[in-house]
Amino acid sequence: MIVKKVPDVTFRTRVRDENIEGPNPYRWEDKTTADYFGNKRVILFSLPGAFTPTCSTYQLPDFEKLYAEFQAEGIDEIYCVSVNDAFVMNAWGKAQGLKNIKLIPDGSGEFTRKMGMLVAKDNLGFGMRSWRYAAVINNGVVEQWFEEEGFSDNCDTDPYGVSAPQNILASLKMAKAA
Ligand code: BEZ
Repeated sequence: MIVKKVPDVTFRTRVRDENIEGPNPYRWEDKTTADYFGNKRVILFSLPGAFTPTCSTYQLPDFEKLYAEFQAEGIDEIYCVSVNDAFVMNAWGKAQGLKNIKLIPDGSGEFTRKMGMLVAKDNLGFGMRSWRYAAVINNGVVEQWFEEEGFSDNCDTDPYGVSAPQNILASLKMAKAA
C-alpha cells in the first residue's frame, strides 16, 4: 500500500445550477478531500481514463449495479476518480446514466500523484494518468487496498481484476465474517 491517509487536495468540479441562463447552466464548485471522505466509509476506485473500454463496459457499470450490495456492507458512497477534467467526467457520467456512483475529476493529477498512483501513459497518447486501483476508505484512512499488478509507466497491458467490484465486495464480506 502506498498511502495510509488520502491526501488533502481541492477538486475543481462543475455542477448544474438552474439559476444560470443559457445553454450551459453549470458553474465551478470546489470540493475538498474532507468533503468527499470526511466521516464516511467509502469505496474509491481509480482508472486510466473516462470513456475507455474496460472502465465503461465493466468497472463503472458493475459498481453502479452492485451499489446496494456495497451499502449493505456499510459503504456510504462509491467514488470513481480519474485524471480527467470536470467537463469530461460529467460527460462520461451522463453517457453512463449514473445514479449511484459519484465521479471525481482529478484533472491536474494532484490527488493521484499524492496517492503514489500517477503513471505515464504516453504510449497511448494519454500523458500522465492513474494506475488502476481501488480502496475502502474510512474517514479518510485507507482500510483495504486493491491495486492491479505491474504498476509501471507506459504499460503495454491494462490489468483488471483485483480492483473489480465483485472482488472488493467479496473482501468486505470476508472481513465482516472474520
Ligand atoms: C480500457 O479501459 O480498456 C483501457 C484503458 C486505458 C487504455 C486503453 C484501454
